[in-house]
Amino acid sequence: MATVCLDRVRKVYPNGHIGVAGASFDIADGELLVLVGPSGCGKTTLLRMIAGLESISDGTLSIAGRVVNDVAPKERDIAMVFQNYALYPHMTVAENLGFGLHLRGHKPAEIEQRVREVAKTLELDQRLGSKPAALSGGQRQRVALGRALVRNPKVFLLDEPLSNLDAKLRLSMRVEIARLHRQLGATMIYVTHDQVEAMTLGQRIVMLDGGVIQQIDTPMNLYERPANLFVASFLGSPAMNLLRGTWRADNGLKLATTQGDIAFGSVPQASSLEGWLNREVILGVRPEDLRLLDSNADAAIEATLEVIEPVGNEVFLNLRYGNQALVARTPPRTLPEPGSTLHFGFAWERLHFFDPQAGVRITPLSRSP
Ligand SMILES: Nc1ncnc2c1ncn2[C@@H]1O[C@H](COP(=O)(O)OP(=O)(O)OP(=O)(O)O)[C@@H](O)[C@H]1O
Ligand SMILES: [Mg+2]
Repeated sequence: MATVCLDRVRKVYPNGHIGVAGASFDIADGELLVLVGPSGCGKTTLLRMIAGLESISDGTLSIAGRVVNDVAPKERDIAMVFQNYALYPHMTVAENLGFGLHLRGHKPAEIEQRVREVAKTLELDQRLGSKPAALSGGQRQRVALGRALVRNPKVFLLDEPLSNLDAKLRLSMRVEIARLHRQLGATMIYVTHDQVEAMTLGQRIVMLDGGVIQQIDTPMNLYERPANLFVASFLGSPAMNLLRGTWRADNGLKLATTQGDIAFGSVPQASSLEGWLNREVILGVRPEDLRLLDSNADAAIEATLEVIEPVGNEVFLNLRYGNQALVARTPPRTLPEPGSTLHFGFAWERLHFFDPQAGVRITPLSRSP
């Protein structure tokens, strides 16, 4: 197992397109790091550079303390599960699992033993004689994972390994991967565009957009203190509510929006906002931080209930605030009819403020204000 270090690793494709604009981060030995971002943001490019399948245009990549920029893929001791994995249809599960070892010249007895061990770990031991066509989607996915596992590599690279499974299977495979990671103590880099998968699997998350790293942190820190509007909007479902307005201090602190003034008492963020008086800011409020009140006494805003979405353990309230749509998340409770006016307070200490031009967080990134 091993540490992977990227120092300003850059990929410029021959057509001039910048796939990755200079990535610097370390993956600790035994860590499960998730790379997340929208389609085309450079996730596969980054993974392929680590695997050695794509040349590195600039910067340094080291594995276990050794610079590997010019080391061939097979010398890097890395196994990759590809975004569009394909099993050999004419080979059995056992042959598919052992093929990589066979190519590397391992002895048949050794291959058989490794294949048995891995098949047991992945609960494929009853299916070793089956052809892929006779397997379920989840079993095929496990064979694809197993081909990487048999090699017992230093580092596992997983590129959207669950993307062709249905929602339920994805969920059980996600748990399976987390369990495998713990069991093997392996260093894993896991790519996904799915924010829920990233949040639930990652010990740390690297968030990419347009080839540029936006933020690297633990899932909860990313959620609670997003560095910019991209991270704030990408993580969380329903997404964070964003309200634009001018920060004012006449008759108490307030955000003057086109929908009306939102009065703030003494918010903990006030000192960070001192330099923003009479300037535009964007207020970010997570749906769970918009608290439904019984009366308008302490209400921050008043909004019209448009649509109620019950999802079982909670309810999403789709609201209209002037010309803006907002979403609040509440525990299940008796609710008035759509069209009613509702009053909301904020979880004041959990509000986010962003610079509308640069898109970056105004309130501090660290936990202590
Ligand atoms: N060989 C290439 N030549 C030029 N541009 C490329 C090449 N391969 C990828 N790109 C571009 O680089 C960017 C990053 O591609 P990449 O495959 O890394 O994205 P991704 O984050 O993995 O996306 P997805 O989630 O869709 O798999 C994209 O804009 C893509 O079009
Ligand atoms: Mg990809």
